[in-house]
Amino acid sequence: MSGKTVVRGEISVPGDKSISHRAAMFAPLATGVSRVRGFLHAEDTLSSAGMMRALGARIEEVSPTELRIGGAGLRGLVEPADVIDAGNSGTTIRIGSGILAAQPFLSVVTGDRTLRRRPMGRVVEPLTRMGASIWGRDGNRLPPLCIRGGPLRGVRYEMPVASAQVKSSLLLAGLYAGSPVTVVEPARSRDHTERMLAAMGAKVSRSGNEVTVDPCERLDPLDMTVPGDLSSAAFFLVLAAVTPGSSLTLRGVGVNPFRTGGVEVLRRMGADIRSTGNRIEGGEPVADLVVRGAALAAATVTPEEVPGLIDEVPALCVAAAFAVGRTEIRGAEELRFKESDRIAAMVAALSSLGVSCGEYADGLWVEGPAPVRPGVLCDSRGDHRIAMSLRVLGAAAGVPIEVKDAACIDTSFPGFQSLLEGLIR
Ligand code: S3P
Repeated sequence: MSGKTVVRGEISVPGDKSISHRAAMFAPLATGVSRVRGFLHAEDTLSSAGMMRALGARIEEVSPTELRIGGAGLRGLVEPADVIDAGNSGTTIRIGSGILAAQPFLSVVTGDRTLRRRPMGRVVEPLTRMGASIWGRDGNRLPPLCIRGGPLRGVRYEMPVASAQVKSSLLLAGLYAGSPVTVVEPARSRDHTERMLAAMGAKVSRSGNEVTVDPCERLDPLDMTVPGDLSSAAFFLVLAAVTPGSSLTLRGVGVNPFRTGGVEVLRRMGADIRSTGNRIEGGEPVADLVVRGAALAAATVTPEEVPGLIDEVPALCVAAAFAVGRTEIRGAEELRFKESDRIAAMVAALSSLGVSCGEYADGLWVEGPAPVRPGVLCDSRGDHRIAMSLRVLGAAAGVPIEVKDAACIDTSFPGFQSLLEGLIR
C-alpha cells in the first residue's frame, strides 16, 4: 500500500525523555551545580522539573534545552507548599514517589485525567514495605498519592512486572535507606537510572537480573549531554523504512541496549538500518542511524523482547501495516496501562483505516499490506505515541488521516509535525 512518499535527508530528534526526567530529578539531589545539555523541553519532563522546584530545587533554563541545576543535597529538599502536579507523566509520579518516600515531610502528587487512571500500586506496595506511609484512591492504587516519608529500611524486592520506573523509584529510595535495596527484575528494563546514579558516585552493583544500591550520603553533580530519544526517532525510522527509495540519517540517537528492541524487529522485517559513529556520551551509548526504505515482511515479537521495545509498539504496528504477512506481538499486556490502552487504541485506529488487525489480551496482530482508507478521523485517545504513529502512517501511505487530540504530541516531541512536514514536502 505504499504511496509515492520518499523521505531523504538528515535530522536529529529531541533529547531522550527517560534520561531527561532522571537528570531533572536526580541533579537536585547532588551536592554542587549540574549542567544538563540536550534536555527534552516537553510537557512530561517539565513536570519532573516542576516537581523538584516545588521541593525547593533551583532549576534554571540557560536555554530551553540546557539546564543549570543547583543541587540541594540528598537531605536539602523542603516540604512542598501545595499539591504537586505530575501532568501526564507516569515517570514523574512513579520515580518521584521514591524520592518523596524518603523525605521527612508530607507530599501530595496528582496528575491529569489519564495519569489518575494509571496503576500506582506497583510503587506504593514496595515503598510501603520499606517503611513509607502512602495513601491513594482505590485502596492506595490510584493517584492522587499522599506520601508521608520517613526513615526507610532496605529491601529485596522481586518485581512482578519489568518496569524501569518501579526499579528506579526503589533505587532512589534506597539511597536513603538504612541498608541496601536490591531489585530483582523479571526481565531487564532500561538501565538509565543505574548509569546516572553510578556517574554521580552512588554504589550500584548488578548481578544478572538483580541490581543493588547502597545507602549514600552525597551525590556528585552531573555534567552531561542527553542523547537523542530513540523512541522519538522510531517514528522516522519507520517512515523511511516503509517507503522504498527513502534514505534518512538520524544523528546522535541514544542506543542503550535495553531500548533497541524496536530497531532489531525492524531489521528482522527487512529494514536496512545501519548504525555508524558509535560513541559514549554522558555514560550512554549513542550512534547515528542510517535507514533506507525497503520492502518489509511481517515478524513475530516474543514476550522476552517486549521490555526492549515497549514504547515502540505503536510505531511497529505502522511498519506491520506495510509489511507482507501477519505480524504478531505477544506478552505486551503492559501496553494496556500506558498513556492509553495502546493495544485497543492501535487496533481501533488501524481497523477504521481498513487495515486488517486484532487484539489479544496480551498483544495484537496486524496483517499487511492493505490500502489505507483516506479521510478517516482517528482517535489518539490523548496518547502522544498513538498520535505520532497515525501521522506517520498517513504520511507514508500518502493518505490524509485526521488525528483527534494531536496536541498531546507535545508530551514528548514538540516539533514533531514540522519535522515530518519538512521531510515529506
Ligand atoms: C520509562 C519506563 C517505561 C516506559 C516509559 C518510560 C522510564 O515504563 O514505557 O515510557 O523512563 O523509566 P515502565 O517502567 O512502566 O515499564
